[in-house]
This record gives sequence, structure tokens and C-alpha cells, in this order.
Amino acid sequence: MSLNTAVIYGSARQDRQGIKAARFIVQKLAERDHSVALVDSQEYQLPLLDKMYKEFSAEDAPPKMTAVSEILDAADGFVIVSAEYNHSVPAALKNLLDHFQSEYLYKPSAIVTYSAGPFGGVRALVNLRAILAELGTPSIPSAFAVSQVYKAFDDDGNAIEASYDRRVVKFLDEYEWYADALRRKRSATECDKEPPAQQAQCRG
Ligand SMILES: Cc1cc2nc3c(=O)[nH]c(=O)nc-3n(C[C@H](O)[C@H](O)[C@H](O)COP(=O)(O)O)c2cc1C
Repeated sequence: MSLNTAVIYGSARQDRQGIKAARFIVQKLAERDHSVALVDSQEYQLPLLDKMYKEFSAEDAPPKMTAVSEILDAADGFVIVSAEYNHSVPAALKNLLDHFQSEYLYKPSAIVTYSAGPFGGVRALVNLRAILAELGTPSIPSAFAVSQVYKAFDDDGNAIEASYDRRVVKFLDEYEWYADALRRKRSATECDKEPPAQQAQCRG
């Protein structure tokens, strides 16, 4: 069964460059047969956090928040694409992530960072690992850092520098290992609730 991955991207700038990196990852996941949804903060425009999604009743929840919750809930894991703003993550990304909670649990995340300079956003990466751990979606050991993002990909997300096409393979291999392992465990736990005679069928 193919994996379902949500790519989460949060830069609210009109001239944002990181959308190219997000499109690159979406494309690479689709080529690997993932069901992929891009959760782009600019598309969903969630408000600055007042109430978390779980605090709304079903009737009162803003439709865009429900849409994001459903995407995250259906996902087996997440690829987070983050710029580095003042050595940390963009406020738009943090705001998007903070609205949700149970949607992340027992699923892995993989971190892509980028910057205009030579360091590829590695200082945001350190911050993001701690945030994701607290959200309940621990990040895989490997990370994918992109330096000089403005010239690394074209507008459709194709790599201009061939090294990105090569490096992304190991990164996504590792993400898939964790996403598949945790999906099996989540599904086994669900199947444990079935009567013994139906557990094998449930596990497929
Ligand atoms: C508010 C702000 C803070 C930034 N801080 C950093 C930084 O700490 N380190 C860095 O390498 N680049 C920094 N930059 C440059 C970004 O790496 C570059 O503008 C990048 O394209 C931002 O991502 P975006 O275009 O997707 O919004 C900063 C840019 C902005 C707008």
C-alpha cells in the first residue's frame, strides 16, 4: 500500500522562494507513489492561533482548519519544508503547526530546510526538531538542507543542481522506512482491538 504524506510549508512572503523546494519534494514523493498533499500556509490562511482545532465544536470549526486537520489525520507522515528566519522557523509555519495536535501522533516527520545563504537553514533545523518532537511527530535522523534556494530549483520544483536529485533519494528512503514502520505499528495496535479470529485479516 502506498504511503500518504503531507508536505507542510509555511512562508507567508509574496516573493517566497521556498515554494520551489516544497514543489520539488511533492514531485519526488509522487514519483515514489505516495499520495501527497501540500499544506501551504498561504493557501489555507489559518488565523493567528486563538483556539486550537480541537477546541472548536464540529459545527464551529473554520472549514479551512477542518480541511487541514483531515489532510494531517489521513497522513502516514510529514515532510516539513522550512525557511530560516533569524535562526529559527518562520512564524507562519509555527502558527500552522500549532493549530493541530492529535493529527501528528505516532507518525514520523522529515525536515527540509533552506536559506538564501550557504548554510541551508541548519539553525532552523535544530529548532524544528524540538518543536516536532513536542508535537508528537519525531523527526528522522537525516535532514535535507538546501542552500541558495533561489537558484536550486525552477518554479515547477525541478532541480537545477543535479546533486539535489541524488541526495533526496537517501533522505526519502529513510523517511519511508520510518513511515512504513510506524504505520504497521499503528495498524497492529488498531487490529489488537479486534476479536482474535479477525486480527490476522485486519493486519492484511
Ligand atoms: C525575516 C527574515 C529573516 C531571515 N533570517 C535568516 C537567517 O537567520 N539565516 C539565513 O540564512 N537567512 C535568513 N533570511 C533569508 C532567507 O533565507 C531567504 O530570504 C529565504 O528565501 C526565505 O524563505 P522564503 O523566500 O520561502 O520566505 C531571512 C529572511 C527573512 C525574510
